[in-house]
Amino acid sequence: MANIREIFDFPKVLNINIVASIIIVSIREIIMINLDSFSSFFVANWKLNGDFNFIDQYFDGLKLLDDKSRCIVICPTSIHLDKVSQKKNNYYVGAQNVSQYSEGAFTGEVSCKSLTELKIDFCIVGHSERRLIYYENNADVYSKSIQLINNYIVPIICVGETLEEKENGQTNEVLTKQLNEGVPNSSNANNTIIAYEPVWAIGTGLTPSIEEINTTHEFIKKHNTRFNDYKVLYGGSVKANNANDIVSLTCVDGALVGGASLKYEEFSKIIID
Ligand code: PGA
Repeated sequence: MANIREIFDFPKVLNINIVASIIIVSIREIIMINLDSFSSFFVANWKLNGDFNFIDQYFDGLKLLDDKSRCIVICPTSIHLDKVSQKKNNYYVGAQNVSQYSEGAFTGEVSCKSLTELKIDFCIVGHSERRLIYYENNADVYSKSIQLINNYIVPIICVGETLEEKENGQTNEVLTKQLNEGVPNSSNANNTIIAYEPVWAIGTGLTPSIEEINTTHEFIKKHNTRFNDYKVLYGGSVKANNANDIVSLTCVDGALVGGASLKYEEFSKIIID
């Protein structure tokens, strides 16, 4: 008897599940930023710089376009996320790192839950400084990205080769490994961004040639069909005088800017040009 009732109840349970799934998917779409609604992305990575005074002056001076098709993301230190969020006007706020753990005995870490409470929409993951100085590996990048996606925060997953790897002709091999091992299965073009940052170009004033940048971005998007539609940003010595040439490339969807994003005049030029 109980079995027959279960059979009759099944369509009802199925319907409830379908309705619940539709509601969850719709809410998710409302909460998550629609990456496809932007033509380009300009992400400011402030690293370990800035203080309250700096933030006040920066946003007094920063010139942003009314044009909402450019997605501007400011990533200050964790301590300054709240202050930068309060100034929010035509830009989004991103963190520079997050814990791969949701909570517990992890002294000094910042959780996705805390980022969600501050309404943070983006988070840089696997920056080469985190990989080289704090020994983060692809597995860490993978777990952090899962946490972020589960919390509706867009991971900006950084990949890139060292000078030695470039000179040994290993760039594509290194990128393939970082992407295969660091980008989780739950990632897709709507919830994750990739940033190509050659390690040797970060903070050095050196950049690959314009053709090399486009070719490498094309490789990232085309070497595996799952990455075809991903937004891929370029980072590494982007300045006001090269940003336009780089971001105009067909396979480049925006820029991740370190040093030059600390000067509001220069970052304004990068965004507006
Ligand atoms: P840079 O840094 O623009 O100062 O080279 C880029 C980055 O580290 O994301």
